Amino acid sequence: MGKTKKNMPRVLVIHGPNLNMLGLREPEVYGRTRLAEIDDRLVGLGQQWNLEVSSFQSNHEGAIVDKIQACLGKIDGLIINPAAYTHTSIAIRDAIVVLGVPIIEVHLSNIHKRESFRHKSLMADVVTGQIVGLGVAGYYLALQALAEKLGMLPSD
Ligand code: DQA
Repeated sequence: MGKTKKNMPRVLVIHGPNLNMLGLREPEVYGRTRLAEIDDRLVGLGQQWNLEVSSFQSNHEGAIVDKIQACLGKIDGLIINPAAYTHTSIAIRDAIVVLGVPIIEVHLSNIHKRESFRHKSLMADVVTGQIVGLGVAGYYLALQALAEKLGMLPSD
């Protein structure tokens, strides 16, 4: 018998500012997939791997901090694309540090190949791992990595 929903590890996916515009926004950089499609696919993959996946997008730094604080003790893993806040937000960095769960930072584009102001991530040294430059696949690979870390998929 499968695990009941109640016992399924919970993964939160946070998308930062302007990611609600995916598909419309600089498609040559960020691709043509809409955010809702990414979120739906993550829920579907979560079902395969017995993970309960929910997602949250905000254009506001404080709203993202509030969401992270509200999830303290209620999630088992986090996938976060802080978008432009990656490069500026000590507040989001300070919030995620407290969670104490595996965190995967995702960027659709390869931030290291772009403008120098994108090269620095204030999250980099407090997350479990980063996936950059693989487009939407980065989110799915991040969920796979969390599934392994949370014991829902075999790992090495
Ligand atoms: C991004 C990269 C950031 O530099 C940028 O501000 C974004 C998206 C990415 O997914 O490639 O909004 O996080």
